[in-house]
Amino acid sequence: MSIGIENLLVTGGCGFIGSNFIHYLLAREDFHGRIVNVDALTYAGNPDNLKGLATNDQGRYVFVRADICDLEAMKRIFDEYGIDAVSHFAAESHVDRSIKRPESFIFSNIVGTFNLLETARRRGDSFRLFHHISTDEVYGSLGPTGLFTEETPYRPNSPYSASKAASDHLVRAYHETFGLPTTLSNCSNNYGPYQFPEKLIPLMVLNALEEKPLPIYGDGKNVRDWLYVTDHCDAIWTIMNRGRRGETYNVGGAAEMENIAIVGMILDILDEIRPRENGRSRRDLITYVKDRPGHDRRYAIDFSKLQERLGWRPHESFATGLRKTVSWYVENRDWTERVRSGAYQEWIDEQYGE
Ligand code: NAD
Ligand code: TYD
Repeated sequence: MSIGIENLLVTGGCGFIGSNFIHYLLAREDFHGRIVNVDALTYAGNPDNLKGLATNDQGRYVFVRADICDLEAMKRIFDEYGIDAVSHFAAESHVDRSIKRPESFIFSNIVGTFNLLETARRRGDSFRLFHHISTDEVYGSLGPTGLFTEETPYRPNSPYSASKAASDHLVRAYHETFGLPTTLSNCSNNYGPYQFPEKLIPLMVLNALEEKPLPIYGDGKNVRDWLYVTDHCDAIWTIMNRGRRGETYNVGGAAEMENIAIVGMILDILDEIRPRENGRSRRDLITYVKDRPGHDRRYAIDFSKLQERLGWRPHESFATGLRKTVSWYVENRDWTERVRSGAYQEWIDEQYGE
């Protein structure tokens, strides 16, 4: 089913979803091309996520440290590597950071996306596809019922979601105005290995293991629709190969959960596989804190377009996916300790002399 991409630019490939996507793609038999991973290595870019690839997959995998806000660097990379398709993950991705310091979200998410679209457009007919990875947060917040469809109006509430909405509009405009071959996916909350522990699930797992408080915003009853990261990677590859150019596809896990219920499930798994010395439940670590400003109440996705037209559906249930994820963070203490201590950035310092 592959569209025969030769040189795929993956932006943000050292982040959570981007690194999972690179592992996913290199293991697929219907991808024969080369991956050029362009990442600025911000705090969220972790070279440990792709350990060994540079030496084991020589010829099929190249890493270039560059900022997508640097237009000249993007032009050089597209030319040097003959880029014929893009999977665009690179972004500032954390809502709380966008509330404290929105500026980098505007540059990376909006200007960075513009630079990539502009560079892709200049390659003319040799360019095959620009796939933009976006979020369901562009649609705003739902009440107790209903689902986001591809027709739901955009109503972003945080600087993060507003910047992603702007990037989505640019992608749409480049297709309509310049005929750039694009596809776009708006996905719900992801979870799985290699997620930076500022996001709910890895933060709660690591804090609980370290006997630290588990901060629950507001009443803990905000709802997200959770998708295991490999299912997201599979959706992206399906859309890239079979999706109609110029179209948007919603991606979700049919797994709506209240935050407090997720934290309870995580603690139950941890209490079972890594019991505390005193044998007591870790639930006493739960700490209700002040709510996030503009906190969206509920996200839930209708992914019937992707399911009915392209045959994709999620394979992992939330219960099995969460158990796999919690076990991964428990078993990969080397990765978690290097993230928590900041040691993951040593490689960057050694390579780039910072
Ligand atoms: P992440 O924060 O884990 O990783 C982002 C990566 O982008 C990092 O490696 C970082 O170094 C890189 N980056 C940031 N700014 C850059 C720049 N200016 N130039 C080059 N590289 C830069 O994010 P993630 O969770 O993997 O999300 C990836 C994409 O998926 C984002 O576009 C995000 O909006 C989208 N998304 C995420 C989720 C989720 O639940 N995490 C859900 C839906 C959509
Ligand atoms: P998060 O993982 O930051 O993803 P997003 O804001 O993009 O959905 O947060 C998921 C949910 O968990 C959200 O409702 C906010 C809540 N949350 C907490 O209650 N405590 C925390 O420490 C964090 C990081 C999030």
